Parts: sequence; structure tokens; C-alpha cells
Amino acid sequence: MTGFDAFLHDGGELTCEGTPLSRIARQAGTPSYVYSRRAIRDSYHRLKDAFARVDPLICYSLKANDNLSLLRVLQEEGSGFDVVSGGELFRLQRIGADPRRIVFSGVGKTVQEMEMALEWGLFSINVESRQELETLARVSRRMGREARVAVRINPDVDAGTHPYIATGLHQHKFGVETDQIDDLLEIIENSPEIRLVGLGYHIGSQILDVQPFLDAFERLREGADRIRDRGFPLEHLDLGGGLGISYQGETGPDLQRYAGALAQTGEGYRIVMEPGRYLVGNAGVLLTRVLYRKTNRGKVFLVVDAAMTDLLRPSLYGARHQILPVRPDRSWITADVVGPVCESGDFLARGQRVPDAHPGDLLAVMSAGAYGFVLSSNYNSRRRAAEVLVDGDEWREIRVRESFEDLVRGEPLP
Ligand SMILES: Cc1ncc(COP(=O)(O)O)c(C=O)c1O
Repeated sequence: MTGFDAFLHDGGELTCEGTPLSRIARQAGTPSYVYSRRAIRDSYHRLKDAFARVDPLICYSLKANDNLSLLRVLQEEGSGFDVVSGGELFRLQRIGADPRRIVFSGVGKTVQEMEMALEWGLFSINVESRQELETLARVSRRMGREARVAVRINPDVDAGTHPYIATGLHQHKFGVETDQIDDLLEIIENSPEIRLVGLGYHIGSQILDVQPFLDAFERLREGADRIRDRGFPLEHLDLGGGLGISYQGETGPDLQRYAGALAQTGEGYRIVMEPGRYLVGNAGVLLTRVLYRKTNRGKVFLVVDAAMTDLLRPSLYGARHQILPVRPDRSWITADVVGPVCESGDFLARGQRVPDAHPGDLLAVMSAGAYGFVLSSNYNSRRRAAEVLVDGDEWREIRVRESFEDLVRGEPLP
């Protein structure tokens, strides 16, 4: 089963694992994110099975969706984690995650975040610049703690994805250029508290073609061999995330081919992966209700109660999500689905085939499990949505909708 199969029209309406979305909307309200536990578990195991030959350490990337209950689901399946901030580390401490299965990525770690990472003894801290490495060496010396370090290289490969989510070219801020690695090795040689354990890349997100991964991996492997030749006992290669999913019927990257290449070219190294979107993207929908239907010079707008503040991807990347009716007895029209926020960029769909819905109708914005809630904001003093996790024939709120009081907490008046 793919994540998408958890959401099916059944008995005259859209359901999640058999639970009618209308029932969830009635009790939890709208807009709400609804996730399928089964779909998350299935995608984790689909990935694990596809790469069984190389038995990778799968470190779910929290940035895709960091709700504690989803982290718990993945933890129970045996997943490790990839974080990029002290806040994400704090979340993992909350669920009692195993620090030896956590990698810390990101281009701008602060001293405080380094202290947290060293205190907890993570599997690896992935550094992205000479200055970051020098700072980490200073902090670990002061704390008397060894830092397990991986260097993220910039492999200069074009991932063929949206420019905002491509990260592996020279013009991007990420990673260390391969010709600067010698500099970093020199620092490591002179820093007994730094132990170089890995080399990695992350070339971008929502990548559908496997070739850029293969190109990047070949460069990574060559770089790793050179580092080993210089006497550093490198243990692992970290492939980052980036595996694309189907939003509108796209075919994802050929995992078998990727796994085959890793088995062949990666021999002698432990493989680490940091998937985010792949594990949760198709396991969630954004449930929203139509407020109004209006026409401007023949153009139809469905005004719904969710907005760019709930799901930013369409505004930010021009991303297209399928929008399905909760009751499938609607015809289809070409329309814009827009939110109540005072921005022309506030849309969930633009000129897209969507259900010909009317006020009161429920719509499901599909494939919203990754980079959905986490990118939401309080712009226009909108309260952030509720989140619901469906598990078989049970469901529960895993995040309570914000209240008006929540909006002003932390704003004392004199
Ligand atoms: C370093 C790193 N690892 C993993 C990921 C997760 O990417 P994805 O959700 O595309 O798998 C990202 C996303 O930006 C990232 O920057």
C-alpha cells in the first residue's frame, strides 16, 4: 500500500483508515491535519525493505513534521532521527529517543545547540563549514566531550527540483566544497576531541529522478576513500533526504536502482539516510471547509477556512496538491481554492481541477503530511490548526487547535 491508500472513498465519503473524515471534522473542527498511522508505518517499512541490502540507519528528518506523536510512531518502528535545531532535539528528548540514532544537520548551529548535542552524545554532528568545525572543537574541548563529526559536502549536482528546495549546487549555502576538505582535515588532525566518523550530502528535496543521487553518491564515495587513505577511519556515508513522492500521480525515484548502486559502490561503509517527506508526506491531509463560492469575471474562487498560514507550499513553491471532495458526489471545475488571509498569494490551488464545492462542503488537500503544519504561522492572528492521528478505528487529537489566549501568550502589557 502507498500512503495515499490510507485515504479512500468508502461508503459514500472520504475516509482515513476507514474513519469518515466528516466525523473527524465534526469533532475536531476545521482546518485540521489528519494523519494515518498505518500509512507512516507502511512508508517506513517500504523504504527499509527497498534498501534491505545495505541495511541503512534511517534517520527521519523532523523538519518535515515534528509532532511528538508522529515521532513516537516512527520511534516504535525503529527509526532514528535527523534534527536541525535545539528545539527539534528537545522534542526528541521528550519522547526519550536514543541519541546514538540521531544526526544533527544544519548550516548554522549555535554554541548552545552544540552543547546540547555533545551533552547528549549524538551519533553524528554534521558540520558544513570550517568556522563551524572550529567552534565545535572549542566547545567540545571546554566540555571535555568527544564530538562525532560528519562533514557535509556540496557535491555540485543538479537535483532537478524546485530552486527553493535544491541544495546541492555550488551557488547554495549548504555543505563544504570538496576542495576545502583538506582544510577541515587539518583542523581535525589537530583536535583530539573531534572524531571524524562520516561524510555526507543532501542535494535537495522532492527529487523524482534517481540519477542525481547516483552522481552525488559516486562523488561522496570517492571523497570518502581519499579521506580514509589519509588515515581517518571514516565509518559512514550520509545520503541526506530528498526522496520524492507522488503529489499528482508522479512516479518516485527508482529505489531498487539506488539501493543496487549503494550495495555496489558503498561497500565498506555504513549507510545513513535522512528521509522526511517520503515517510510522512502522503500520510496526511489538510481537512478544510468551504466558506464561500464566488465568481469574478467568470473565474471561480472557493474560499475555504484553511489558508497559506496552514499550508504554505502552494504559495511558497507553487506546489500543487490534489484536492478531493469528502463527499464524492460533486462535479469538477477549474477554480482557485483560496484562504481568508489578506494576500493574493494566499491560495491552496490555482487554476486547478477541483471539486465544484459549495459552502459547508468539506475538502481534503492531499499529500499534506510533510512541510504542512510545520510551516504554519499565526499571520493575521490566525490560530494554528488541530492535528489528528488515526490508528485503525480509533483517532485522537495529537495537537489541540490554538486558542485566542494562545495567540497573546508571551505578550505582557505594561
Ligand atoms: C540535511 C537534510 N536532511 C534531510 C532533509 C529531508 O528532506 P526530505 O524531506 O526531502 O527527505 C532535509 C530537507 O531539507 C535536509 O536539509
